[in-house]
Amino acid sequence: MKILLTGADGQVGYELWRSLQYFGEVIPTTRKGKEINGLPTIALDLSDMQDIEKKLNAIQPDLICNAAAYTAVDEAESNQELAHKINADAPAIFAKYAVISDTKVIHYSTDYVFSGNANTPWKEDDECDPQGVYAHTKLLGEQAIIDSGCQYKIFRTAWVYSQRGNNFLNTMLRLATDKEQLNVVDDQIGSPTWAHSIAMVTALTLKNPAEGLFHLTSSGKTSWSGFARRIFSIAEKLELISNSPIVNGITTSQYPTPAKRPNYSVLDCSKLKETFEIRMPNWQTNLQLCMQNMIPNKRKSN
Ligand SMILES: NC(=O)c1ccc[n+]([C@@H]2O[C@H](COP(=O)([O-])OP(=O)(O)OC[C@H]3O[C@@H](n4cnc5c(N)ncnc54)[C@H](OP(=O)(O)O)[C@@H]3O)[C@@H](O)[C@H]2O)c1
Repeated sequence: MKILLTGADGQVGYELWRSLQYFGEVIPTTRKGKEINGLPTIALDLSDMQDIEKKLNAIQPDLICNAAAYTAVDEAESNQELAHKINADAPAIFAKYAVISDTKVIHYSTDYVFSGNANTPWKEDDECDPQGVYAHTKLLGEQAIIDSGCQYKIFRTAWVYSQRGNNFLNTMLRLATDKEQLNVVDDQIGSPTWAHSIAMVTALTLKNPAEGLFHLTSSGKTSWSGFARRIFSIAEKLELISNSPIVNGITTSQYPTPAKRPNYSVLDCSKLKETFEIRMPNWQTNLQLCMQNMIPNKRKSN
């Protein structure tokens, strides 16, 4: 099986590169074809529709795994055209190719497709009401794949973090080096999800012919301030930081951002669990497992 992987340098894409190689030949792509940890990747710019068609025809993949996306949620508000190309038009091209060539598509979407006005977990067929450009373009990407009639799995995930990349975990650890107090939003609720576990679940479901849209997050929920406090308490125990900053919970209105975020974006993952017989670990355990990988090698061996 030939697997075309996009976003190989992203949080989820990098983990997929590692997990999917047991199922076939992974062809990792990045926007500019950059080398990652000494390994080459092929250039594939998802804002260039001709480039996508050219590469698809040249590579002729059996599976397209699309982990690339325009993920800068706030910047998307002023960069609508580019976000639309990458998040909506590119998945549509993948899906169109997949129909013609009998190729399968795996794609990722977001909890931000929902309004956030709820207090029970969102199910796959609940009404979507994206609140910003990023969320809107991601929903269009989902719909293009679903409407195309191709064979697909779409995983909606949330609050993604990993050891590498720009994410909340790394931002908190960086801020902890010089801040004694931090103000963090505590009225947005979601489920922090380790990129590694998204890749693991993708691999576990790969050979299962079930298709459709599935919610995929860690189990349990917290606020951004709860997430931050847990990061600091683990980091202190692992000696990744010397002192935990005090986390002051603030409201969303005290921290205005260009893009509106859902207040409550916990996803109901029971369809994923029942269809694939998968148990999702809780977010605290996965956070600890991820952060254990951050202990410098020298100290780990003692
Ligand atoms: N991060 C989250 O909290 C979150 C939450 C819910 C859902 N998701 C979804 O999960 C999936 C994976 O997200 P992630 O967290 O792994 O995102 P990420 O770390 O930001 O990675 C996205 C990747 O897409 C690449 N990309 C952007 N524009 C591109 C272009 N024009 N051509 C080719 N590649 C391009 C980026 O490359 P560059 O570095 O070169 O820009 C980056 O490597 C996405 O579908 C995202 O919408 C993420």
